[in-house]
Amino acid sequence: MKDKLIIFDTTLRDGEQSPGASMTRDEKVRIARALERLKVDIIEAGFPAASEGDFAAVQAVAETVKNSTVCGLSRALDRDIDRAGEALKGAERSRIHTFIATSPIHMQMKLKMEPEQVIEYAVRAVKRARQYTDDVEFSAEDAGRSDEDFLCRILEAVIDAGASTLNIPDTVGYSIPSEFGATIASLMQRIPNADKAIFSVHCHNDLGMAVANSLSAVMNGARQVECTINGLGERAGNASLEEVVMAIKTRHDAFNCETGLDTREILTCSKLVSSITGFPVQPNKAIVGANAFAHESGIHQDGVLKNRETYEIMRAEDVGWAANRMVLGKHSGRNAFKSRMTELGFEFHTESELNDAFYRFKQLADKKHEIFDEDLQALITEVSADAEDHFKLIALKVCSETGETPQASVTVNVDKNELTGDATGSGAVDASLKAIESIVQSGAVLELYSVNNITNGTDAQGDVTIRLAKGGRVVNGLGADTDIVVASAKAYISALNKLEDKGVKKHPQV
Ligand code: KIV
Ligand code: ZN
Repeated sequence: MKDKLIIFDTTLRDGEQSPGASMTRDEKVRIARALERLKVDIIEAGFPAASEGDFAAVQAVAETVKNSTVCGLSRALDRDIDRAGEALKGAERSRIHTFIATSPIHMQMKLKMEPEQVIEYAVRAVKRARQYTDDVEFSAEDAGRSDEDFLCRILEAVIDAGASTLNIPDTVGYSIPSEFGATIASLMQRIPNADKAIFSVHCHNDLGMAVANSLSAVMNGARQVECTINGLGERAGNASLEEVVMAIKTRHDAFNCETGLDTREILTCSKLVSSITGFPVQPNKAIVGANAFAHESGIHQDGVLKNRETYEIMRAEDVGWAANRMVLGKHSGRNAFKSRMTELGFEFHTESELNDAFYRFKQLADKKHEIFDEDLQALITEVSADAEDHFKLIALKVCSETGETPQASVTVNVDKNELTGDATGSGAVDASLKAIESIVQSGAVLELYSVNNITNGTDAQGDVTIRLAKGGRVVNGLGADTDIVVASAKAYISALNKLEDKGVKKHPQV
């Protein structure tokens, strides 16, 4: 019998700390449902003390998810823990994850605390969290750069206080696999009550070693890995869930443990997270990249045709590639549309919401006769955003001709007033965005513009991400359309709408 490796997904918390990746409550619920179908053990849904919005999102995930444990993050502060406890009340199974920094640099410069005080805070936090749930996780932030003797002392104390999971984060992605694995083995051996807790790791990817460090920790006794879909996360991201899980599955000969995940759901989760956050997946990304199972060179193709194992170590269908099928078309009816949307985790709250979405679906099906799940995901993102929008794109006219300066005329509904603006630009997209800006005058700084195709073919929808920054806030706007100029205008409007939401959100680690 192999040990169980617990998969703790933090896409909705650490993933959300990526620039502009902040998600609405409904978006978090959609991702949480997909993670539940993937059978992840624990879903870290957010940091409830960050804002009212985050609290509501964790609460909604807690009330929705039935088969995975729902977790809320809190600093080692009474108020944070109480907020997490409150937000998780409706969960079938809940976990509070509390943390405090333990490295000399974090204790001196960030916390301005003596090591003894840090231990006191940690113990007090764990005891308070235990008043809400029996499942309490403690993280020693920046453990990768902490003194091992100090780690032993604080971890022993928090186990005595009631923590059942001890997380060892490589917060700044500084560790290397041999050293990180050795630290886990040494902690497990030196801490007298180590057998009363599960050791977990949470690795960041600043040096590209997050997955390698996590796997080395597993080889040395860790039995929980914290990771995110597509490796999303603060700075260079976290260990990628799909890579960790498929490494354990594919190299079962090398690991004495297994996960309980339904890996066929991996690709759906990857596409959903990418379409909601606006972080595209690079084509050569392991497992979920468009080229991950494509055999370009003639030699490889010949080998694969003779026997797939010559070049393939995994089966594409085991991570969900085969499921990428055409689902609906021009002649599909409302019921087929509604039931596929439900399968994708989207619920219509009113009849008019369904009518609106179905109308958009028909419009898309007129332009593009094969509609894939990815197209529906993009449509859902648009429909859900539209409900509360301050700015709405009404019309766009572009004139682009070789040798002439492109011109655009755009009509936008601003708080129920239709306004039109004209502009020229270096290209059709540039002219359109300038025309929008001439109306809204946001003054926001464009930090990123990226276009990707959602599916294949020249009639595919272009998926545009636009990142805008203003007043210390960074947001990603998303737009999809078979015309990439229209998709760009939609993405710009979507980013402007997100900037309109002035809610202030605390960052847990600052
Ligand atoms: O990277 C980190 O240390 C964290 C903790 C809050 C677990 O995200
Ligand atoms: Zn982290």
